[in-house]
Amino acid sequence: MRDYGNLFGWLIVAGLVITLLNYVVKFVYRKWISKLDKESDFRKNYTKVQRFIVKYHRFFALFTTIVLITHLLIQVQYRWVSRTGLIAAALLVANGLLGIYGHYYKKRKKSAWLYVHRTIAVLTAIAIVLHIALNAR
Ligand code: HEM
Ligand code: HEM
Repeated sequence: MRDYGNLFGWLIVAGLVITLLNYVVKFVYRKWISKLDKESDFRKNYTKVQRFIVKYHRFFALFTTIVLITHLLIQVQYRWVSRTGLIAAALLVANGLLGIYGHYYKKRKKSAWLYVHRTIAVLTAIAIVLHIALNAR
């Protein structure tokens, strides 16, 4: 069970990386891709991939949350209740709720919610690094 628990821990990390790609692909687009010729194949293909990542951002986040619940249930049952784990989980779930608010109520318009959403994403990543570095204490 210990291996399964840790496997699901790493699956959360993988899910979160894909969720966070939302920011990365847009950043790369703004910096480099937008300067390429509009007709270039590379730019067209890049835009397709970007659309996919942005469109399904909330479902990647949902996947991450489901894997997180699995990890939590296994660890609490077979290992222990991790304080750093609970902090990371609370931040991730809070950010998911904020994302729902931004997507469905704010219609994805840029305003304060998005800046808070980005900040909580960074805090979540820090909490996860701590969780792993401190051996899940
Ligand atoms: C965003 C949330 C979380 C992430 C990304 C995460 C990630 C991970 C990862 C990658 C590991 C394996 C580390 C290794 O291979 O040595 C791990 C271990 C562990 N996690 Fe989490 N975790 C999260 C939340 C939680 C929560 C909420 C709990 C429990 C309340 C928890 C309890 C544990 C425990 C007890 C271990 C150590 C198990 C052992 O060494 O046998 N984690 N976590
Ligand atoms: C729970 C984990 C989540 C994390 C870590 C996360 C992270 C991020 C980050 C870093 C951005 C910034 C991208 C940018 O600057 O444009 C972003 C944007 C956004 N997120 Fe999330 N997010 C999560 C969940 C969600 C959920 C569940 C939803 C909706 C149901 C959502 C909706 C949005 C929207 C609408 C944007 C801005 C516009 C867009 O890219 O569509 N997020 N998210």
